[in-house]
Amino acid sequence: DANERESLYLVNDFANDYFQKTLHQTDQGKAIGLSYFKERGFTEDTIKKFQLGYSLDEWEAFTQAALSSGYNIDYLGKTGLTIIKENKQFDRFKGRVMFPIHSMSGRVLGFGGRILINDKKAAKYLNSPESEIYHKSKVLYGLYFAKQSIAKEENCYLVEGYTDVIQFAQRGIPNVVSSSGTALTPEQIRLINRLTNNITVLFDGDAAGLRAAIRGVDLILEQGLNVKICTFPEGEDPDSFARNNDLDEIKDYLANNSRDFISFKASLLVEEAQNDPIKKAETIGDMVNSIAKIPDAIKREIYVQECAKIMNISEKVLFSALAQKQQKNL
Ligand code: CTP
Ligand code: MN
Ligand code: MN
Ligand code: MN
Ligand code: MN
Repeated sequence: DANERESLYLVNDFANDYFQKTLHQTDQGKAIGLSYFKERGFTEDTIKKFQLGYSLDEWEAFTQAALSSGYNIDYLGKTGLTIIKENKQFDRFKGRVMFPIHSMSGRVLGFGGRILINDKKAAKYLNSPESEIYHKSKVLYGLYFAKQSIAKEENCYLVEGYTDVIQFAQRGIPNVVSSSGTALTPEQIRLINRLTNNITVLFDGDAAGLRAAIRGVDLILEQGLNVKICTFPEGEDPDSFARNNDLDEIKDYLANNSRDFISFKASLLVEEAQNDPIKKAETIGDMVNSIAKIPDAIKREIYVQECAKIMNISEKVLFSALAQKQQKNL
């Protein structure tokens, strides 16, 4: 209920303060957490703006601090900040740098925590579990900070991770949000759609992510948004790219490498099909599926023309496949 939700928000507020104080005011926080962020190129202002923090590498430092400040163990458990098992309790986040996840109105819904050394045994990022106030599928990381500039720029950059959002914003491109590594959901798209009709999806430069993400993009088309795609060089992500280039270079790169999603997908599939006629036929079916999802008839027509060129088939064939598909969908 509403009272319980408010109690969970208050616990998260306490934790958010606590993790920030730990980062800025404890020896461990400064030596390990703060220097980690500085090494990644985050400025003091950026660290403060995104309310970044640090969790001590101890079993129940946070939980004890919260209990002595009067917070109820029940609510600590329900936010997932404290893990309660057989009368034992311990902190979920230990020795991690902390990224609070805000609602569109700025309330803290949960946290992501990153380990400091890459260790194959531990998850790189640990996130708050779903709770009464945190529904992963309905949240976009960074939206609270980005919403005004998304509306003003009439475009939203969508990236994979926390640090991509932060580095872009620091560099001077604040209209950026992240789905935090999960496949994009219709609810997340609706959040963006309230602010703009234009999304530019920025993929990490690794092929695996690309294929998975392409499936997510069909969802965006269905809601009538215009989607562009921009990929980064092999091994780079928006964070590393933004760190290694200045604002003009980043803007040039985005301008020169952003492509309309439909033609991007068509080119990619055609390249994969090469001279295999069976694969090419599948490709045509796949493209027809994507185009059929676009609500606007004029846009559909333009895309058919574009795809026919890229795939080197006649517009007529593509149009009739599309008509068939739409018959089936009725
Ligand atoms: N992610 C996660 N759990 C993991 C790995 C990733 O929740 N074990 C989410 C995080 O939100 C992360 C995003 O997926 O930010 C993208 O993953 P990845 O590209 O691997 O991480 P980066 O954001 O690039 O993080 P870093 O630069 O710190 O390595
Ligand atoms: Mn709810
Ligand atoms: Mn990735
Ligand atoms: Mn990445
Ligand atoms: Mn990265």
